[in-house]
Amino acid sequence: MDESAFQPPPKALEAIMAETREIGFQSWCWPPVGALLRVMASLKPGGRLLEVGTGTGVGTCWLLDGMEATAQLLTVDINPVTQAIARSHLGRDPRLTILTEDARATVQREPPNSLDLVFADGGVGKHVLLDEMLALLRPGGIYICDDTKPHPMWPPEHAAKIPPLMEALAARQDFRRIYIDWSSGVVVMVKLAT
Ligand SMILES: C[S@@+](CC[C@H](N)C(=O)[O-])C[C@H]1O[C@@H](n2cnc3c(N)ncnc32)[C@H](O)[C@@H]1O
Repeated sequence: MDESAFQPPPKALEAIMAETREIGFQSWCWPPVGALLRVMASLKPGGRLLEVGTGTGVGTCWLLDGMEATAQLLTVDINPVTQAIARSHLGRDPRLTILTEDARATVQREPPNSLDLVFADGGVGKHVLLDEMLALLRPGGIYICDDTKPHPMWPPEHAAKIPPLMEALAARQDFRRIYIDWSSGVVVMVKLAT
């Protein structure tokens, strides 16, 4: 099944990808993950969404493509150089806030029960500060992470991080969760009402 024939990718994607390749940034999210992010984002009209790890804005443009006009997305990255590509293509979207900082500060600053969707794609809220990140979600809030399926491009240290992550996610009885063997290996969890 050709995903892009089923529903075209976001308009900004091609230009963002061209610049992403130009600077040699390789950690962008693959189209099937982007398509999943778009569907998840569309579940949260009026919602507050957070992406940790803007990269060059690939996942950001998929999320924005799914979001209703009333939703808001905060995307955070520690690297202003890659993030500049996202700024130039997406920065005028009034639903988007682009923040350059260590996402540990973001997670520690955001109030508990204030987010409707998190795409944890920059280590923080995934391999570190996981519990703190999950606390930020409202009941019904969605947590998404990918890159959980072994890949030859992985740096050697990444593989060792996956089993503890999967164990930590599986231990969370306050979430419904599913591992989806899709693209880079995606986990989707939804916070239960207590
Ligand atoms: C996998 S890439 C993000 C890809 C992007 N989400 C996409 O969909 O194309 C990971 C990003 O996390 C960023 N990052 C790593 N550590 C970080 C931290 N402590 N705070 C914020 N961003 C961080 C890196 O600079 C990198 O751009």
